[in-house]
Amino acid sequence: MTLLDERTHEAPLSAVTDLFDRVRAQTLALAAPLSPEDMGLQSMEDASPPKWHMAHTTWFFEEFILKPSLPGYQPRDDRFAVLFNSYYVQAGPRHTRSRRGLLSRPSATDVLDYRSHVEDALREGVARNAFSLEQDKLEELITLGCHHEMQHQELLVTDLLHAFSFNPLLPAYVEPKPAPVSAVETAEWVSYDGGLLEIGHDGTAFAYDCEGPRHKVWLEPYRLADRPVTNGEWIAFMEDGGYSTQTLWLMEGWAVREKNGWDSPLYWWQQDGQWWTYTLQGPRPVDLAAPVVHVSYYEAEAFARWAGCRLPTEAEWEAAAEPTPIEGNFLESGAFQPVGRRPGLWGDVWQWTSSAFSPYPGFRPPEGAIGEYNGKFMVNQMVLRGGSCATPKEQLRSSYRTFFYPHQRWQMLGLRLAGDQ
Ligand code: AVJ
Ligand code: FE
Repeated sequence: MTLLDERTHEAPLSAVTDLFDRVRAQTLALAAPLSPEDMGLQSMEDASPPKWHMAHTTWFFEEFILKPSLPGYQPRDDRFAVLFNSYYVQAGPRHTRSRRGLLSRPSATDVLDYRSHVEDALREGVARNAFSLEQDKLEELITLGCHHEMQHQELLVTDLLHAFSFNPLLPAYVEPKPAPVSAVETAEWVSYDGGLLEIGHDGTAFAYDCEGPRHKVWLEPYRLADRPVTNGEWIAFMEDGGYSTQTLWLMEGWAVREKNGWDSPLYWWQQDGQWWTYTLQGPRPVDLAAPVVHVSYYEAEAFARWAGCRLPTEAEWEAAAEPTPIEGNFLESGAFQPVGRRPGLWGDVWQWTSSAFSPYPGFRPPEGAIGEYNGKFMVNQMVLRGGSCATPKEQLRSSYRTFFYPHQRWQMLGLRLAGDQ
């Protein structure tokens, strides 16, 4: 083998271990402000304790890389597999999701030890070239594990917000920053020609299975607002009876609204004639110029109808985003809440699309447990695009699709208006 060949093999693996080091350190940094009591909080079935996220992302590397492919690897504790397997039926039995908050043991300290144990084994295995895997396959799996952990960083943050919201002290996870004073411009429309286009991931860089295959779509000419819908605009909808006008709502959405008594976004309340909200910077007056966040698909869809517009499809969004640099307010800004005040497609809030999370033409999940990652969730969920103030920037691509059920609100969920031309 020539020197050149060796180099082309060496370079990517060090890139992947750099990513591993950065992602693992970022998770620890996110957990640093938390007490051992915070680490165990679970506020609902959809959300998990911080400690569980930290252990589950570790289990992912252990289950899919170390156990099958590092000869002689000894798990820290064989019983952890049951506790920290989330939903992979092919990876064995799982602890009940709604009871993750009852795991006082392993302690937060034990979970940190578990993290170190797995990290040491993985780093040493790479250094000793001891994996029984092709280098390409190893890189692919470590990269997947890192992107998986980035997804859980966002979940850790949003789950924490939800758990803290039940504490009357309304704790600040980060130091409150002064609210920006500048106003927001009126939204402008940006027109797109549409036509016969392609969407979906292509090429060798990392992407989740559900982002491909790249395929053709036909788009009629359309337009997108140059920024997400703001809190000020949302309050106008509320004041115009948006939450009490049944004709604006999908039938299913109205039923969910009624059942839950929704009259404003999640985490909002009224105090001295003003709307307030709870954020990871603590309680704050609702910032009229910032993008609205914590609205369900049903609410977003009703808002769009009230505004005489509609939600974009995911293909419309992706076609607009493909040539657009990924700039905006992401996890790394440390705000942990939308800030807005700039036009752009990316950041601040995930944007509901009118597209169902369905397989693209020709989609086939990989064989085995890893194939359960996205494919088995392709029913009854809607796609969101753009990334949020809780999304690690490195996770995003123009083909990236996240997905949630239409009634869910606890993630950083907002919307952008679209229309026909
Ligand atoms: C893409 C955010 C819906 O929350 O289950 C985490 C991310 N997948 N572990 C989820 C995910 C596997 C996923 N979402
Ligand atoms: Fe996961």
